[in-house]
Amino acid sequence: MIKLIVASSKQKASKKAAQIIIELLNKKPNCVLGLATGQSPILTYQELIQDHLKNKRSYSNVTTFNLDEYVGVNVNNKISYHYYMKTNLFDYLDIKKENTFIPQGDSNYLEYANKYDDLIALKNGIDLQILGLGENGHIGFNEPGSNPNSKTRVVNLTKSTIKANSRFFNSIEDVPKQAISMGIKSILSAKKILLLAFGSKKANAIKELFKAQKLKKPNINVPCTYLINHENVVVILDLKAAALLKEI
Ligand code: F6R
Repeated sequence: MIKLIVASSKQKASKKAAQIIIELLNKKPNCVLGLATGQSPILTYQELIQDHLKNKRSYSNVTTFNLDEYVGVNVNNKISYHYYMKTNLFDYLDIKKENTFIPQGDSNYLEYANKYDDLIALKNGIDLQILGLGENGHIGFNEPGSNPNSKTRVVNLTKSTIKANSRFFNSIEDVPKQAISMGIKSILSAKKILLLAFGSKKANAIKELFKAQKLKKPNINVPCTYLINHENVVVILDLKAAALLKEI
């Protein structure tokens, strides 16, 4: 079941998302969070940091699992998702480094990818998975055509994702062509899912998601549509991302 929240701005949407995470932290201080990188969760992470500083909410018993990492990129490289998480969230919280898991993109990446889902299961699964959304409907780096039974693995990025991500690099040639990503099945195993999508570039994928919900049929070419098979999904949009919903 998908609960839809449309906020008047990205800022308000991110406050709402942070509230949902904080409610879980209050209820379950040792919860397991699934985390995303990219632009979409940035303001939510800033809200969590502000809340931690102001209200002393603790992350000392929280465990986190990130969705993905680029292949062939060292953890200290500024383009890595390890670096993103450190500089956008972890450095500002009292979370223990040993409780933060991110797929390994450099040495032993295949071995680490193969055991990632088992590591999640050892922590009793993800309580709340935060997701951004690709313009092509990807979740994590599960590109169009991804298998709904997929687990954490190496994936090839599509041209459109490489182009979209080139905004974080000096040139499009510098964007890695492969990533390690949790699979569709790994994502759908979370107890609750929170999808954030802002801006007009996400509007079409959002339209496809709700079209799939109406038809009760996921669309293999738009991976986010597999979310209709999950029982507890919250989708938080700004007005631009919600703009095409009236066409359904
Ligand atoms: C990032 C991830 C990706 C992004 C998506 C949207 O960890 O898994 O699926 O969430 O590409 O990126 P932004 O938020 O930058 O538009």
